Amino acid sequence: MTPGPNTYTHALVRPPGDSFAQAISSTRAKIDPARARRQHAAYCDVLRAAGFQVEALPVSEALPDSCFMQDPALVVAGQAVVCRMGATSRAGEPALVAEWLRARFPTTAIAAPGTLEGGDILLLPDRLLVGESARTNAAGIRQLAAQLAPAGVKVSGTPVTKYLHLLTAVTYVGHNTLLALADYASHPEFSGYEVIVVPPEEAHAADALGTGDHVILPEGHPKTTAALQARGFKVLATPMSEFGAADGGITCLALVW
Ligand code: GLY
Repeated sequence: MTPGPNTYTHALVRPPGDSFAQAISSTRAKIDPARARRQHAAYCDVLRAAGFQVEALPVSEALPDSCFMQDPALVVAGQAVVCRMGATSRAGEPALVAEWLRARFPTTAIAAPGTLEGGDILLLPDRLLVGESARTNAAGIRQLAAQLAPAGVKVSGTPVTKYLHLLTAVTYVGHNTLLALADYASHPEFSGYEVIVVPPEEAHAADALGTGDHVILPEGHPKTTAALQARGFKVLATPMSEFGAADGGITCLALVW
């Protein structure tokens, strides 16, 4: 496989509380918090199997979506950026993680009127591609670009109209390879990458986490699994029904670096 893999080593997670039953959801599916906690524990086991050092922060009952740790912050190039959420009910989440990050990384923050959620930030080998979505606005993307420019990190934006976040539709799994839903497969931003097109019946597999030669997928996606294995990836699958019911995917559950 060429060129290099993603090289993440750390994952910061927060288990779901009972209030996860009230998470934002477009699916109307009933969420079982006890099953979600079991699935979260299995997810952490899979992260460890893929080589991550996993650290768990305390449950927050006050913030039902706070298990989706990807969204309130970003760590890249040895620095942290605390986001400003586009979803009102999630506005308190960045403050919950900011102190932890400030103790470990040079840290900046997105300020009003900017909004930025981690689920819109696609880390590519040479830049960050950020979805301008219902959750992330142009001011947030401009602030992110300015805050990362001193570290030499390039940031560009792309509109997202049909999906919650950019990573709902496309993720980079390493080795020059993307998993993408059909309408992102021939997106001009992705020329030069090998794109595995995720079939509509396996849409949840477009949100995957690649590290080393491993790719973590939600369980039950045989076509995407086979396509990855054919390219030499080692697929680790984990149950995600309760997080899927709250519009969450594999990357949503961890802040990784
Ligand atoms: N339930 C995840 C989100 O809407 O952000």
